[in-house]
Amino acid sequence: MAGRGAPDRPVPGDTRPLVLVVEDDVANRTLLERLLEREGYRTQAAGDGEAALLAAGEHGPDLILLDIGLPGLDGYEVTRRLRSHIRTLTVPIILLTGRTGLDDVVEGLDAGADDFLSKPFRQPELLARIRSALRLRQALARMDAAHAAVAALANAVEAKDPSTEHHCQRLANLAARLGTQAGLEAADLEAVAYGALLHDVGKIGVPESILTKQGPLNATEWEVMRSHPEIGARICEPLSAAGAFGPIVRHHHERWDGHGYPDGLKGEAIPLGARIVALVDAFDAMTHDRPYRRALSVDHALRELWTEAGTQFDRALVPLFALELGHEEARLSDLPPSALLATA
Ligand SMILES: [Fe+2]
Repeated sequence: MAGRGAPDRPVPGDTRPLVLVVEDDVANRTLLERLLEREGYRTQAAGDGEAALLAAGEHGPDLILLDIGLPGLDGYEVTRRLRSHIRTLTVPIILLTGRTGLDDVVEGLDAGADDFLSKPFRQPELLARIRSALRLRQALARMDAAHAAVAALANAVEAKDPSTEHHCQRLANLAARLGTQAGLEAADLEAVAYGALLHDVGKIGVPESILTKQGPLNATEWEVMRSHPEIGARICEPLSAAGAFGPIVRHHHERWDGHGYPDGLKGEAIPLGARIVALVDAFDAMTHDRPYRRALSVDHALRELWTEAGTQFDRALVPLFALELGHEEARLSDLPPSALLATA
């Protein structure tokens, strides 16, 4: 068993979750430690708030069981202090208390605790809540890792083609805004944002001599350039969320009329996320300077989108995008006839 006054150091390589038990009553503390160790957890123990803060800082527990009625710093104050340090900002905290009033629960949750359990607790309930809190922590850790991987890939693309600096971040933002207008749910919005961020990741596989060539590409160079959506989808495959956004990466150069690439998909056969990214990609490219031309105004770029609504772009998305940008009137008199058809 891990010690009390001077806890044993965790054994290196021991991957069992570490639970810090903070309880001033020796009998209760011992009971909790034995129960947890029997269930396969490692434990550290502390008998007051100060010792709890020291142990949490030193050992980085995976979860803290924290009695509220401690001598000195009480459980609420310990919770607040744990939440104010980066090392313990996200560690799950389950408060244990004999008090069951609503005010106590509210104060505990406001202090930053994740859960609340009344004493005397039932062992199966305590263990179930610990399992639940640890599952949530693991899921959050996986999401953090996924976000970091996506951000690193997006940075890699922009590093290779500096003319697109910040283009991917802007695109993620615009795509999420248009996706919201299109009524996407939260999970689909996240996929669209990831897809936008990584849409050109396949350019990592395109030689810089082609990416940054001054002047038009020849037929062979175009063929290489046009392979970037397929390369990108392959690069994304190992990411756990790629099932949701990989198709966006693959199909972001498809056209509504079926004349795009790589698969020549047409109309609604093109994933909605890819149609969204195609539209905001074109808009962002038009409204920012490129080596070969100056940026167009927002009005001018929107008129270009209207012109291509129903041929290059999903005609239902163009008015939604104009609405999102606050150009809902879009000076109808200035619009080409195809735009008026698109609003019908
Ligand atoms: Fe692209």
